[in-house]
Amino acid sequence: MKGMLSPSLMCADLLNLESEIKALDKAGAEYIHLDFMDGSFVPNITLDTTIIRLVKTVLKNMKRDIHIMAYNPEKYFDAMEISAGDIVSVHIESCENVLDVLSEIKNRGASPFIALSPDTDSGVLNDYLDIIEGVLVMTVYPGFAGQPLAKGSMEKIASVRKIIDNSEKDIILEVDGHVSWDLCGQMRKNGADLLVAGSSSVFSGEYPLGEAVSRMKSLIS
Ligand code: DX5
Ligand code: ZN
Repeated sequence: MKGMLSPSLMCADLLNLESEIKALDKAGAEYIHLDFMDGSFVPNITLDTTIIRLVKTVLKNMKRDIHIMAYNPEKYFDAMEISAGDIVSVHIESCENVLDVLSEIKNRGASPFIALSPDTDSGVLNDYLDIIEGVLVMTVYPGFAGQPLAKGSMEKIASVRKIIDNSEKDIILEVDGHVSWDLCGQMRKNGADLLVAGSSSVFSGEYPLGEAVSRMKSLIS
């Protein structure tokens, strides 16, 4: 699979969201990564359901890649207007019945992904391979940008890749956390398909946004 990019909106200039989103879209990012936090499952709050809903109205080519770090994620689906074309990642650790939540995402025409925190074993995926369309491997602890790569992350990506390949199913492997200019190539080699770019690359401020997206895309293609 060709490498795909999902810049993380929580790392953008939040006072100029519309122009930031349009610049990312114009530069050819495939997805826009939207982090939703409840301040309880993770000790932080970033984008709210209203922003996540409104983002839809300015997208041309990018699709929403919604990452919910909240207990009972299904409570927020209506407010976010989850619909066809969206990726929706839920943490296996945050759901009472993860299978029901994944089915609800699918019923809305969206793509259900399971998100794994760094300390969650990849073996838990085996029970959900028939329903998921992707796995989001967190390579930092959920909640904050700008963290170092969590220990064992590169091995975790490779082990999830193996599980997906053995399943012979069409499942996307997404990586979220410290996707830097230096590490993105190795992440791709270890099996990542979709890379979330935050403060470690696209939003590092080294390049204008459009140029940063082009550089990242050429590194992961
Ligand atoms: C975590 C978020 C971002 C992302 C930021 O769920 O998607 O915090 O990791 O990227 P970095 O780690 O590069 O700041
Ligand atoms: Zn995220």
